[in-house]
Amino acid sequence: MSAGAASLLVEPVPKLLGHLAVPGDKSISHRAVLLGAIGDGETRITGFGRSADTEATIAAVRACGVEVYEHGHETLRVFGKGLRGLAQPGTAIDCGNAGTLVRLFAGILAGQAWKEFELTGDESLSARPMGRVADPLALMGAGIETNDGRLPLGIQGRPLRAISYRLPVASAQVKSAILLAGLYATDGETTVVEPAPTRDHTERMLETAGARITRRPESVTVWPAERLSLGEVEVPGDFSSAAPFLVAATLVPGSELHLHGVNLNPRRTGLLAILERMGARIISYNRRAIGGEPGGDLEVHAAPLVGTTVGADEVPLAIDELPLVALAAACARGRTVVTGAGELRAKETDRIEATVDALRALGVRARAREDGFEVTGVPGRLRGGRMASGGDHRLAMLGAVAGLVSGEGVRVGAADAVGVSFPGFFEMLAELRRTSAVEQPDRR
Ligand code: S3P
Repeated sequence: MSAGAASLLVEPVPKLLGHLAVPGDKSISHRAVLLGAIGDGETRITGFGRSADTEATIAAVRACGVEVYEHGHETLRVFGKGLRGLAQPGTAIDCGNAGTLVRLFAGILAGQAWKEFELTGDESLSARPMGRVADPLALMGAGIETNDGRLPLGIQGRPLRAISYRLPVASAQVKSAILLAGLYATDGETTVVEPAPTRDHTERMLETAGARITRRPESVTVWPAERLSLGEVEVPGDFSSAAPFLVAATLVPGSELHLHGVNLNPRRTGLLAILERMGARIISYNRRAIGGEPGGDLEVHAAPLVGTTVGADEVPLAIDELPLVALAAACARGRTVVTGAGELRAKETDRIEATVDALRALGVRARAREDGFEVTGVPGRLRGGRMASGGDHRLAMLGAVAGLVSGEGVRVGAADAVGVSFPGFFEMLAELRRTSAVEQPDRR
């Protein structure tokens, strides 16, 4: 996604009212295709979250000989090649913008003994750190080459050794790469120790597929597998795609919004705890399991917010929502300080600088720290103006929410970056704007 792509003006909205169902979870959609590809037989995925990132995953497994049939927009049938059956493609596999794809696939490819693969990506992905997966996979015995810790990633699959590995950074992508490689170990179980809990979709899905997994509060162990079989996967709505709407409805006075069928895995919903501390009114109801994950519906009412502090333990649980926390903070009374979030600098953009620059451009008092940011909020409406997304989907959605709550509207640079995770975002927003103009708040 280029930073020069089309900009879009998002105008203020009087209030947000109605019901939404956001598309399927991106993290789980990636994993379902990848595990389906190394499963035995057919995996049927419903509620698939279609986006540029997950399309790259479909293309990647196809490049390795896996048949994927698409039925309509949200249903896929993946015919797995078995754990060791991926084919060596003739050319490099382009992972586009997708960090989850490149890192998780690296773990799988490392175990495809005596086959060679090359993983590449777009400009943003090519600037992101890959040593964090290359190092543990090399320890396990894979042949790995990086370009000075960046893409392209050259992988020679080998019979792998089990390791016990303490992650230097809290990263679900790196944890997942090692666990997936651990399926191929020839000599016993592989353990990953986490500095702080991160999203656990891989562990959950591996268990469903029949792998032996032991989970402890600070670590996960996986045993080598003979075969995996996932069967059916129902992908819940993506909490990270629900998040912009949750923040918008909290900030626009008079709003009341319901979001249905959302993944409420506690390793993903750190934003709820942060917003609640700030004074938000969000409740969950109809709690139920969706595709092996805790899910449910959310009801959000507008509420005045106060500033808060967010520290390292909470960061992985809200990692992709921290730009939205900064926006909520801009509209809250008092100061908000986020620390222990240096990982934001290794995302699709340097999300500390990008968030602070975007907010400042809209008239907010914000300051970058090495490991986070500080925002001094002013309740009431943001001024608005122009902001640059830098081609980062999460920043483009932040800009859109800022537009809704602003006085003058916000012109979002490279707004089409939303397609990386949520291609229908602006259409859903336009529809919500229309229905909000005619709907009455639910009276219960
Ligand atoms: C993801 C993990 C997180 C997150 C990313 C998706 C995943 O990245 O930011 O959007 O699907 O495992 P890290 O593992 O690098 O923190």
